Amino acid sequence: MKLNIALLAGDGIGPEVIDQAVKVCNAIATKFNHEISWRPALTGAAAIDAVGDPYPDETHEICATSDAVLFGAIGHPKYDNDPSAKVRPEQGLLRMRQKLGLFANVRPTFTFPSLIDKSPLKRERIEGTDLVFLRELTGGIYFGKRGREDNGDTAFDTCTYTRKEIQRLAKKGFEMAQKRSKRLCCVDKANVLESSRLWRETVQAMEQDYPDVEVSYEFVDAVAMRLVQWPSEYDVLITENLFGDILTDEASVISGSMGLMPSASIGESISLYEPIHGSYPQAAGKDIANPLATVLSAAMLFDGLELNDEAEAIRIAVNKSLSEGIVTEDLAEGGKAYKTSEVGDWLASHI
Ligand code: IPM
Ligand code: MG
Repeated sequence: MKLNIALLAGDGIGPEVIDQAVKVCNAIATKFNHEISWRPALTGAAAIDAVGDPYPDETHEICATSDAVLFGAIGHPKYDNDPSAKVRPEQGLLRMRQKLGLFANVRPTFTFPSLIDKSPLKRERIEGTDLVFLRELTGGIYFGKRGREDNGDTAFDTCTYTRKEIQRLAKKGFEMAQKRSKRLCCVDKANVLESSRLWRETVQAMEQDYPDVEVSYEFVDAVAMRLVQWPSEYDVLITENLFGDILTDEASVISGSMGLMPSASIGESISLYEPIHGSYPQAAGKDIANPLATVLSAAMLFDGLELNDEAEAIRIAVNKSLSEGIVTEDLAEGGKAYKTSEVGDWLASHI
């Protein structure tokens, strides 16, 4: 099969971890007889430096005309402490999500048996955890009306959702639950927020179309607590943009390292795959960052193209690297710490 994949390395450790995913994908292409044409494009601070725009039109064109997008990370410390910056790398990410219509962010959390003691949570609490968040990604407070009043002394951001936006995301949630354990949890704050009441009402109305799925409704504050108490009780969780942003960072610690968790952002016509970690500027250029989240995102990319054997081959190699201790310093704990590039080479040669 011929595959055109847009390659958005971005900032910080983005380029290094993306390089490893490319090595692994190229090994997959050789093994399974595919031809991958990589289409690199600029995003984030790197794009601001080069052309003054964190998501240039040219990059959008490349993404929109590819079969999938593989994304590294964006963000640069020079913007973090400057609330007055006019252009920020993150704006590129948000514009990209909106323009490509990436409405459903799929963020799985699972444990690796060989790493279970690396988690800050006790083994008996997290063993068997295998959940997935479906975070709405192109609506809510991230894209609502915002501004200043009162000479700048009052600020507001608004959370708006339409029934259609909720249905579109919830449909994915129901379908995913049907393929998994048939349990779906709708996370909201319906005891306070009107937008949450619309979420609950909409999801309740959809229940009749999926009689095999058991739906529960929980408030976001309770989920934040139960997620670290008994994560293994959850399966598929659907939620709005900001709640999902916060809860998925929380969920990522369950696995033991943020450097492990992949994600997919699904649109109607194009999907993007990226590690959930950020640009980790302190490690940039040092060849020490953990590439596994990006490599596992590439596995999700193959799944998204219905190339499931290819995806599985990547996951098998990753599991093998973990059990044989071919890991970067975040996971080495006294043992040998391999370089980012060494882990990538090892994985590619074990595909
Ligand atoms: C994420 C990130 C982004 C978000 C930032 C970088 C804008 O935290 O992908 O979760 O808030 O969505
Ligand atoms: Mg986030």
